[in-house]
Amino acid sequence: MPTREDISFVAAAVLDGAIRPSLGRDLLSWKEFAETNGNQLSVMELAIGCGFIDNDKAKAIAKIPAAEVKKDSKSKRLSPKAESSKGTKEKPQSRPVSKQIPGYKITGRLAAGSMGTVYVAKNEKTGEKVAVKVLSRSLRSKQANLQRFYRETNIMRTINHPNLVRAYDVGETQGGQPYLVMEFVEGQSLDKFLRKGPMNQQEAIRIGRSIAQGLHHLHTRDFVHRDIKPENILLSDKGEVKVADFGLAKNVDDSYITHTETMIGTPLYMPPEQARSETAVDVRADLYSLGCVLFHMVTGRPPFPGEHPLTVMTKHLYDKAPWAQDVNGNVCPHLSRAIYHMMRKDRDKRYQTARDVLMDLERVEAGEAPLKPNEHLKERLSHLQADLGKQQQLNESKSRLRDWFSRLVPAYHLPERL
Ligand SMILES: Nc1ncnc2c1ncn2[C@@H]1O[C@H](COP(=O)(O)OP(=O)(O)O)[C@@H](O)[C@H]1O
Ligand SMILES: [Mg+2]
Repeated sequence: MPTREDISFVAAAVLDGAIRPSLGRDLLSWKEFAETNGNQLSVMELAIGCGFIDNDKAKAIAKIPAAEVKKDSKSKRLSPKAESSKGTKEKPQSRPVSKQIPGYKITGRLAAGSMGTVYVAKNEKTGEKVAVKVLSRSLRSKQANLQRFYRETNIMRTINHPNLVRAYDVGETQGGQPYLVMEFVEGQSLDKFLRKGPMNQQEAIRIGRSIAQGLHHLHTRDFVHRDIKPENILLSDKGEVKVADFGLAKNVDDSYITHTETMIGTPLYMPPEQARSETAVDVRADLYSLGCVLFHMVTGRPPFPGEHPLTVMTKHLYDKAPWAQDVNGNVCPHLSRAIYHMMRKDRDKRYQTARDVLMDLERVEAGEAPLKPNEHLKERLSHLQADLGKQQQLNESKSRLRDWFSRLVPAYHLPERL
């Protein structure tokens, strides 16, 4: 049941003009619906989680006392606090960002996203084109947003793989806004390609393999991306595929991620465990999302389309995943099976690693059927044995080196850890 706070929040948000009255009514009924499915969320969390309202704006609205809301609604003006964080887009700034990032000259704007604005810039020393993501002013004031931004930059700085966007530099503008300098991927994001309809199957498999390769690198370093979707897959004009936007990525062991954070973003590619707001989301969540993206690439639509985020989430939770070949008869059965296996609701029955997905996509590309789960297990075991063998060889050569060195310089002992 909606609480008094929920109702006042909706009333304030409607009077403020932040949401339409019909959306306010929907939010109240979704809350009830979410409760019956075991999700205890306030309407405010729901509105933020579904992307209807940004964090700061919601907080500002929640703080407006009822009397002030009335006064403001008559005069059609917001309180100064609410005004400062109006909308998710960047407000015109007193000083252009281009003058504020030392060493880089901003030459254009690429996109205004959930965390801020992404610009294209030129490294003034090398002339290299780069992309710069600047955290928006309204978000910077909140500790959680800063933490999220710096988590993204830290993860990006520890990874180095051709299928993951690389970070070069991080800092703060003269106006105090954190920024991240990244490699610039000249091309388009996958969602733009998908507007034209289904993709050629071989091309979809190639893109899927590249994403799986990037994920394998990320997952073996204990990170989960948690936001694999077409907007975050960049395709360069040279044919490269790069996973971007590590704003929701986390270390598999981190448990401090909030419930609302797990719900940020579009639910069209969201695994059931994330829709349930489970915080212990692991690498298999990315494999589910990859399955949904592949489904979209070959059929021209996501597996569970829908307008309302909660309806889509409910389908991810309870509806049987569709078979890609049933939606587009040109999709081969082997690929349909692999995609279906990625989208299994029970993550124990899903593909377990990005390497398994990669192996099957390679098989499908060569016209072969995907492996059975027990065959994947055998493959994983043989990889493990090979890795152990390599480790053993390495240990042996290290101990030979140590013996040789101590014979050469008897007084000196090499440390145990070379
Ligand atoms: N390194 C990059 N090179 C080219 N375009 C980029 C790059 N990073 C982001 N973009 C563009 O900016 C958009 C938003 O960036 P993203 O990192 O996904 O931010 P958000 O967290 O706001 O979604 C992307 O969909 C893409 O179009
Ligand atoms: Mg994004």
